[in-house]
Amino acid sequence: MENHDARPIGVFDSGVGGLTVLQAARAVLPAEHFIYLGDTARLPYGTKSPDTVRRYAERAAAFLGQHDIKLLVIACNTASAVALSSMQKSLAPLPVVGVVEPGARAAVAAMPAARHLVLATEATVRLHAYRDAVLALDPAARVDELACELLVALAEEGWTNDAIAVAAIRRYLEPYFENGTFRPQSLILGCTHFPLLRHAVREVVGADVAIVDSAKTTAEVVKTLLRDQQLLAPPGRDGALNLLATDGAGRFARVGGNFLGQELSTDDVHLADL
Ligand code: DGL
Repeated sequence: MENHDARPIGVFDSGVGGLTVLQAARAVLPAEHFIYLGDTARLPYGTKSPDTVRRYAERAAAFLGQHDIKLLVIACNTASAVALSSMQKSLAPLPVVGVVEPGARAAVAAMPAARHLVLATEATVRLHAYRDAVLALDPAARVDELACELLVALAEEGWTNDAIAVAAIRRYLEPYFENGTFRPQSLILGCTHFPLLRHAVREVVGADVAIVDSAKTTAEVVKTLLRDQQLLAPPGRDGALNLLATDGAGRFARVGGNFLGQELSTDDVHLADL
């Protein structure tokens, strides 16, 4: 007989970006209860040192651990790059899933043996998390990585689909697409905030370049893990969502709605003190 587990899944990010992963996970796991923590008081993680990011991530995980979660999703590329393996060890037997490996897998599946350009935060780029993950899956691939911090701010501001976003992306990508020696065939959106800028990125790079992110593949990894470990929620149950932020519930609701794909009000977001 199959067992089920009614406990919630914990998801955290430094801000609203991880809501793209949450949206994808809810789509494939409609009976699950999710508790999402956006560490908005400490955002951005991407410009901080690995020690600081690890400390923040551990604090967020400990907070979610108090809510009796059955699985933790680190829906933040920077925190995944810095702390996934140490957190998998320290939180065992709680399963912990990050977003970098699923993102690399999506890119390799979309375009094998390709030239990939990873757009990410400074910390993710410095650790070469995506390069290593892509090359482990596809040694014939070539990978370059580019830190695009301004795009995090644009996404947090909700300026994702306008001339400012296009101009910023053009500025970052020009060296690669105008006479560059490394012309990417695939762009990996290696930051949770960047899927929101997908249309603006497409406008800059044209139709021929693959654009991949980790949201859907991470959701599939979560689903497979829950099924394999008999941790899926009782079937037929209605899923639920508890949204928490460490600062600025109003701002989280205003901007987060775009990331989650549903309108949010300030009342939907509760403040958490870590
Ligand atoms: N969530 C972060 C990531 O995916 C981006 C925002 C930040 O720097 O905190 O890397």
